[in-house]
Amino acid sequence: MKSILVTGGAGFIGSHTCLTLLENGFEIFVFDSYINSSKKSLKNIIKILKKNNKDLESNLHLFKGDLKNVRNIEAIFQAALKKNKAIEAVIHFAGLKSVKESIVYPCSYWDNNVTGTINLLKIMEKYNCRNIVYSSSATVYKVKSNKLLNEKDECEPVNPYGQTKLTIENFLKDIFNSASSEWRIACLRYFNPAGAHKSGLIGESPLGKPNNLYPQITKVALGKMSEIKIFGSNWPTPDGTGVRDYIHVSDLAEGHLLALNYLLNNKPQILTLNLGTGKGTSVLEFIRIFERINNVKVPFSFSKRRDGDNAIVVANNSLAKSILKWIPKRNIEDICKSGWNWQLKNPNGFNK
Ligand code: WQD
Repeated sequence: MKSILVTGGAGFIGSHTCLTLLENGFEIFVFDSYINSSKKSLKNIIKILKKNNKDLESNLHLFKGDLKNVRNIEAIFQAALKKNKAIEAVIHFAGLKSVKESIVYPCSYWDNNVTGTINLLKIMEKYNCRNIVYSSSATVYKVKSNKLLNEKDECEPVNPYGQTKLTIENFLKDIFNSASSEWRIACLRYFNPAGAHKSGLIGESPLGKPNNLYPQITKVALGKMSEIKIFGSNWPTPDGTGVRDYIHVSDLAEGHLLALNYLLNNKPQILTLNLGTGKGTSVLEFIRIFERINNVKVPFSFSKRRDGDNAIVVANNSLAKSILKWIPKRNIEDICKSGWNWQLKNPNGFNK
């Protein structure tokens, strides 16, 4: 059984990926600081597995720690060695991820995201672990037209969060070039993760007021927020509102499993791949579909555009399809159904 270190494994995408890894026979060592996640997500993963008659709790090892502390990271590699289960690969989710917050606290974002990743790679090198799947983002792209974005398109992040993501991709390229016959690296650029596991036991649990559109839609539908403020009604799009590529979190999790297996079963290489559906949904469309699917109302009003926003951000996902044989199985309706199921069962997410 291969041992995988999952940094940020208690988070939204991390927890869904941990579930998929356990279901596919991996042993996982989760490293999380819980500053923006909850241990409850990991407890619920075990519940989901037990519901499917799988008692895999012994394959899940939890370590609380901070990537800024190299000793915290080394302790996991040592613990795995002691169990004779040396870490074979890392899936690296841990990092701060709010665009808005990164503009106010750039030091914190550069320290947590970049210094933390450098610390992780130092320990990986020390313990001869040279396989990593990295959680990157579509925020790295310079969006200059309405065409589907592909991995060769120009990158020019417009906020500190996106800058840290691109910097880490470039750092991983340097790591690969330092020993190209040894490293296997996949940088996965997510578009707009949304939805929840079909059980409703794990899902997106933002701390405080969510920045992203979808968790606000579910909170407005629940009556915890009064309305959605739609940022701009005069974008160059069919209905004037912003268009994004919403990708179901369970499709993302499956994309990580395929990327991990691809790296472990192929020659040393470095890959950059878009994980998106290739389909765009506008803010207004999203709200209307959510209302129809769940038979709820989502009040909204229009306000001015948000700084840094673009009209259309949609993936060309043909590279991930061809290399990983990854095909997103879920659509915007599945996102609306699963996200609402999660929100109804967990009105406050994992927060008290
Ligand atoms: C989606 C659409 C907004 C809120 C961000 C990050 C990206 C990734 C996903 C991490 C846009 C509109 C939003 C609101 C609105 N995260 N909107 N009212 O900005 O596409 O991407 O989250 O990797 O890196 O940049 O997502 O959900 O904020 O916005 O009208 O209150 O909804 O203008 O068109 P975004 P979002």
